[in-house]
Amino acid sequence: MVATNFLSVLYLVAYASALPKIPLSKRKDILAESKRNGVLQNIEAFKMQIAKTKSKIAAGLVAVEKNTGRVHPAVSGFRGTFTPTDNNPAPEKITSLTGRAIVPEPLTDSEEDLWFGTITVGSPPQTFTVDFDTGSSDTFLPAVGCDSTCDGHTLFNTAKSSTAVNTTDPFFLQFGAGNATGFVFSDTVKVAGVTATGQAVGASNHYSVEFEAANFPPDGLVGMAFPALSVFGANPLFTTLVNQGQVPSAFGVKLADSGSELRLGGVNTALFTGAFRNVSLIEEDFYALNLQALDVSSRTVATANGVTAIVDTGTTLLIGDPQGVEILYSAIPGAKDASAILGPGFFTVPCNRIPTVGVTLGNQIFNVAPAIFNLGVLQGNDCVGGVVSSDGIPFWVLGDIFLRNFYTVFDQGKARVGFATLR
Ligand SMILES: *[C@@H]1O[C@H](CO)[C@@H](O)[C@H](O)[C@H]1NC(C)=O
Ligand SMILES: *[C@@H]1O[C@H](CO)[C@@H](O)[C@H](O)[C@H]1NC(C)=O
Ligand SMILES: *[C@@H]1O[C@H](CO)[C@@H](O)[C@H](O)[C@H]1NC(C)=O
Repeated sequence: MVATNFLSVLYLVAYASALPKIPLSKRKDILAESKRNGVLQNIEAFKMQIAKTKSKIAAGLVAVEKNTGRVHPAVSGFRGTFTPTDNNPAPEKITSLTGRAIVPEPLTDSEEDLWFGTITVGSPPQTFTVDFDTGSSDTFLPAVGCDSTCDGHTLFNTAKSSTAVNTTDPFFLQFGAGNATGFVFSDTVKVAGVTATGQAVGASNHYSVEFEAANFPPDGLVGMAFPALSVFGANPLFTTLVNQGQVPSAFGVKLADSGSELRLGGVNTALFTGAFRNVSLIEEDFYALNLQALDVSSRTVATANGVTAIVDTGTTLLIGDPQGVEILYSAIPGAKDASAILGPGFFTVPCNRIPTVGVTLGNQIFNVAPAIFNLGVLQGNDCVGGVVSSDGIPFWVLGDIFLRNFYTVFDQGKARVGFATLR
């Protein structure tokens, strides 16, 4: 018994040290850029991000129904409610800008906040950069024969891959401002030294504007969520790697200004300290958790009832529903409603007293560091907060603003997500 345990520990250690590691890079960092000179710069980039997340979630919910025959409860919209702890008035509205030094520049080209790494597809291997997105489940690339929407990207040449098989299934992915279309192929995909064979890869002959080279630095996207969410109705790359015995069924992610990394099959113990605080999944399509409460300075300011939060590396901000987000800011002294200036859903907090905002998941509070929460000065002492609301999204979305505070493990096998302190 003891010997067996000892051997399995040795085996685990050996496995862990060999876990495939993918360094993640960023070309544009809209969070950092938003604080250029400390002043909010690029509100339009954030708005485009919210619209993209909205359409991605809508497409995912349709896919869940198609794949499982079950109507996802979120299809009918946001269902939860929040009960405030205190009776605070709604934040005062900013109706005009008075003390502003720099006028927000409208973006000429849109900017994305993406974490991307490298994969190869086909035999012999063709190399592509891809965004790893835990809010979707399909892998797609721009292909040879694509129209001008794929210009500037490396194109997948299916004819030059001896292992590429055209399934002849067309795909259609709807995004905020357009769609990506093509045919689903099956081919060999290699990532950080591990191999998936017969992996579904969308070969796109048209790209939506969000994926054109000017707006999207990597070539394609790898969805890292569960099979139920696949618009192709196929296993995601990570599921294939697990099913083919290439890696154990968890992956670890660090997202930060530098040293970002995706570790397939487990976690990189060099990147965090202490234990994981784990939260069980309530759905296995998106990484969906039960949001229990909202917190300010580690004190609960609202309890939540029936609210789902998804963990999404493909979204920049922390997005919530209008009721919950307004209650949150109502509990922050000096917070203001900036919707008349910046658009629906945006609020400010005092720059000299940026609050510590948190969410309660699995009976534990997870805080967003003030420096990460602050998107930059709007005017005077009003700084824009990284928690925003959108009325078209049925979930709270824990994006970059949240994930940058932790080392995160997405443990599919144990149906949980864990958060540890970054080293
Ligand atoms: C894949 O199959 C579809 C349907 O038969 C066909 O229209 C398409 O041209 C094929 N794609 C390639 C790259 O051969
Ligand atoms: C898909 O996008 C193309 C190009 O933008 C557009 O012409 C077409 O109408 C779109 N199709 C749908 C169903 O939205
Ligand atoms: C939390 O999850 C991680 C990764 O799955 C695991 O290593 C750890 O043992 C879990 N902690 C607890 C207390 O279950």
